[in-house]
Amino acid sequence: MVEVDVRILTSSDHRAAHDLARAAHHNPPVSDAEWAYARDLHESGLTLGAFLDGGLVGATHLLRSRLALPGGATVPMAAATGSGVRADQTRRGVFTRLKRERLALAAEQGFAVLGNIVSEATIYGRFGHGVGTLSRAVRLYPRETRMRPEVPSGGDVRLVDGASSIDLLPRLYERLGPYRPGVIERSASWWRARWEPLVRAGRGPVVAVHSGPDGDDGFVVYQTMRSGDSGARVTLMATDFHAASPEAVGGLWRFLLGVDLVEEVCVRRRPTDELVEGMLVDWRACRTHALNDDLWLRLVDVPKALGARAYGDGDPLVVEVTDEFLPANSGTYHVSSDGVRPTSDHAQLSLGVEALAMAYLGTTSFTTLAGIGALRVIDSKALPNADRLFGTRAAAFCGTTF
Ligand SMILES: CC(C)(COP(=O)(O)OP(=O)(O)OC[C@H]1O[C@@H](n2cnc3c(N)ncnc32)[C@H](O)[C@@H]1OP(=O)(O)O)[C@@H](O)C(=O)NCCC(=O)NCCS
Repeated sequence: MVEVDVRILTSSDHRAAHDLARAAHHNPPVSDAEWAYARDLHESGLTLGAFLDGGLVGATHLLRSRLALPGGATVPMAAATGSGVRADQTRRGVFTRLKRERLALAAEQGFAVLGNIVSEATIYGRFGHGVGTLSRAVRLYPRETRMRPEVPSGGDVRLVDGASSIDLLPRLYERLGPYRPGVIERSASWWRARWEPLVRAGRGPVVAVHSGPDGDDGFVVYQTMRSGDSGARVTLMATDFHAASPEAVGGLWRFLLGVDLVEEVCVRRRPTDELVEGMLVDWRACRTHALNDDLWLRLVDVPKALGARAYGDGDPLVVEVTDEFLPANSGTYHVSSDGVRPTSDHAQLSLGVEALAMAYLGTTSFTTLAGIGALRVIDSKALPNADRLFGTRAAAFCGTTF
């Protein structure tokens, strides 16, 4: 491994770091106009650069967010993004150093968890990251699809123009709140960098908003693409769909499937427990296109993270957690529906912090983790009990990219 110098960048280096990460993802540098939107994503003190021989060769940064937990509380989450290493300097340990420093920075800044949306799945497990939420991508053909009349409805769906969406979407998303475990807070700078430029450039996708008896309660963002030679073949691709109540979810699905001249409806990210098949007259009219890892989590402060979520009914559990990179997390914890505390009792189960990240929001059961050799069972009675404690009513889902 080479000697890499990793340090917090000053604001004058933020654009270079941003462009470096873009280049690593095969994107061109930003224009001045694009940078005017993206610059706020780089908060002072949260952008790291890696230097070799004085030159910037790698970068990553953290965005402030909050993660919704089972029970409805939220914890501070560092959303890690803008990660890349210059193509001529890879595989010599630059990112390894950046990840170590990033974790230390997140801990120092008081974040309970670090989240990321990963483009390479193989490089995170060894640093204690695990898949925290899953999402499902589905495909439907509206001409062969009818919704069952019993699916909850009652609200209205209206299209919102781009300019109005700049104010409306952030307020509506915030209003939905931590409606499911895994949902994350989107900061004003997130909206400014991710949504506003599309609208201002006239490339904004279509925004449909659902209103129920208490006002706006869900939205879906989609674009349409013509495919093939026949002008009539239109694919509707929904990229951002959030709604909390069954009425809003049903209303937005009904709307998507009713848009004229659409041959195919694809929805990229939906919760895994959303039974679209069951909403239809023909169960098989909804095809699962992919089951994807959604939000990856790295528990930065295990006691704080475990202590903030609610637990199901179950006997107290004594679990040992090991964390190679943040040893303060290693220890034995007593977990019950009354809370979490360190204990000197003998552990019933033992697992690494990456496996705990998979169980944290209820996405993977302890029984499943044991089945894939991701945890050590000391007392087999503890497994079903741990599943009762950590299990959740709604599947965790993030549905936000960053
Ligand atoms: C992914 C990336 C950041 C890795 O940077 P790097 O400096 O080469 O990583 P390191 O040298 O620290 O590698 C650490 C380990 O991960 C492995 N690894 C790194 N990148 C990998 C990849 N893309 N696929 C598989 N393994 C990879 C290395 O082989 C090394 O393993 P080892 O310790 O067993 O030898 C860099 O290749 C990059 O910028 N890629 C394009 C952008 C990207 O994918 N960013 C990540 C966003 S999630």
